[in-house]
Amino acid sequence: MCGIIGYTGKGKAAQIMLDALELLEYRGYDSAGIALLNQGHTQILKSAGRVKDLRKLYAGQKPDGQCGIGHTRWATHGGVCDKNAHPHRFGRITLIHNGIIENYRELIEKYHLQGKLESETDTEVVAAVVERFYTGDPYSALRRTVLKLKGTFALAVLFDDQPDKIFAVRNVSPIVAAVTDGGAMLSSDVAAIVPYTQDYFVVPEFHVVSLSPEGIELFDLSGDREEIEWMKADWDVGKSGKEGYPFYMEKEIMEQPDAVRETILPRIRNGKPDFSQEGIPDEMFVDCKRICVIACGTAMHAGLVGKSLIQAMIGIHVDVVMASEFMYNDPVVDKETLVIAISQSGETIDTLEALKFARKCGSPSISIVNVKGASIARASEYVVYTNAGPEIAVASTKAYTTQLAVLYLLTARMAMARNLWDEKKLTGYMQELSRVPEVMEQVLKTKEEIHRLAGVILNAKDVFMIGRGLDYSILLEGSLKLKEVSYIHSEAYASGELKHGTIALITEDTPVIAVVTQDKLKSKELSNIREVQSRGARVLLLIKENEALEEGQEWSCVYRLPKMEDSFMVMPASVVLQLIAYYVSLDKGLDVDKPRNLAKVVTVE
Ligand code: F6R
Repeated sequence: MCGIIGYTGKGKAAQIMLDALELLEYRGYDSAGIALLNQGHTQILKSAGRVKDLRKLYAGQKPDGQCGIGHTRWATHGGVCDKNAHPHRFGRITLIHNGIIENYRELIEKYHLQGKLESETDTEVVAAVVERFYTGDPYSALRRTVLKLKGTFALAVLFDDQPDKIFAVRNVSPIVAAVTDGGAMLSSDVAAIVPYTQDYFVVPEFHVVSLSPEGIELFDLSGDREEIEWMKADWDVGKSGKEGYPFYMEKEIMEQPDAVRETILPRIRNGKPDFSQEGIPDEMFVDCKRICVIACGTAMHAGLVGKSLIQAMIGIHVDVVMASEFMYNDPVVDKETLVIAISQSGETIDTLEALKFARKCGSPSISIVNVKGASIARASEYVVYTNAGPEIAVASTKAYTTQLAVLYLLTARMAMARNLWDEKKLTGYMQELSRVPEVMEQVLKTKEEIHRLAGVILNAKDVFMIGRGLDYSILLEGSLKLKEVSYIHSEAYASGELKHGTIALITEDTPVIAVVTQDKLKSKELSNIREVQSRGARVLLLIKENEALEEGQEWSCVYRLPKMEDSFMVMPASVVLQLIAYYVSLDKGLDVDKPRNLAKVVTVE
């Protein structure tokens, strides 16, 4: 959470940072600020609100400077107000921070900072500790400071008497850095850097990095210089803009056919699933006795679909665990448990910690990650990147469907490695998977129709979503999407569970979205729908095209999904649910891309 940026070089630091903060705003958007260092003088501009408010502040003052740091905040310590916005300053030190300093109260005591701090943040305490240790050598001051800190942090620091230089250090919370034309940049993720360069590196934990217009230097905590391991971002710069769409969420929904194509095509060789570019040995798929998927939110919902696929097709037991609960349930994982960690950002702290724990227990691991070089990718034995490109909207869409695409591929490879399918079955499955992008395109062509369907729930207070099996798994995601972007309360229920309590909430005109895509469950699902209809519910039905419906059953609306083999129907159905959530939010006039209280990257527990 929180976006950090630093720039030093020939360019106009403030403009570059403000543009970058806009790209990083998805990481937190309750306050924003920048600091500019100019000939020994540091000027700070900051305020509660969005980057656009900071822009106005800047336009009023236009401070000069070619070196600076900037921040966009998701509050943890201290409420949302101007004084708690970053950067924070103490003595000669100006600092921004992403993470949580757990022992900040002890540090206040230890260094007698009571009454000397202006904000309620843990960050200002760090600035005070750096100031305390600073005797002209920034490396030494930062080394000594980080040894006193408990918690997670990505810190970017300006020292008044270190012209044109930015220093940074981190533990867990990410920082990437890059050399640009005539300067150098750091950021909490590559989204802010790709408009300038594709070459970047991930600053290793507990290393001090220094940026100057001449370049970047990296030192370990003993002060020894280290080689930088450069990486290449393959994100298309153009893909970071909205390209004419009113919101990133719509753009990213529309990009799904390409994103899925980019994710599956490089992993199909001679018509078969292939993970040789990732180096994943087949033994991993053969030797495991069970699978444990760890992930949060949308990524966890992708895991639920994976569970249904793998259990049905491979016949091994799969647990899907919310990473945030993993450590509190005495997890049982061992060397026979294949752990699959799923994360768009690759930085979700709960997922990262759970993965590290599983690895300590000897579990083999594969992560499914969108952001190259992210912490979860580096912490797992093997990584499969979803080639979704940058996902900027806080609500995840294309990352989810590309995660599903990888899970389909992994299932097929597992079946192959275990000799479970004959040639015909494998070919049929892979052909159906290859059809997913064009089927998604078919759905997207009907977006105006889906917009009209969304009107049915526009003014609803509560919405229920019902289905069984795979349909239930995708409704959990559809319901999360609706809640987070439209603020309508919604619940996804396994249709068979309704009678065990929740049906008490169904009354005259309660809106219910029902998904029926699995032949083997159709009759049961339709009778569960009758149960809610008899209690007055208005049902919006998603069902396969050409599927017969009984005479006499009344529907508020019926959307016909393009037909695929049943296990792939989640793909077109998910797109419809995403668009419904999107259009409800749009028509309510909400800030679709930045729902209240949320942030794109969750780096605090
Ligand atoms: C919802 C959403 C979140 C994320 C969750 C995990 O739209 O995006 O539920 O899926 O915070 O994030 P990652 O995938 O980055 O680990």
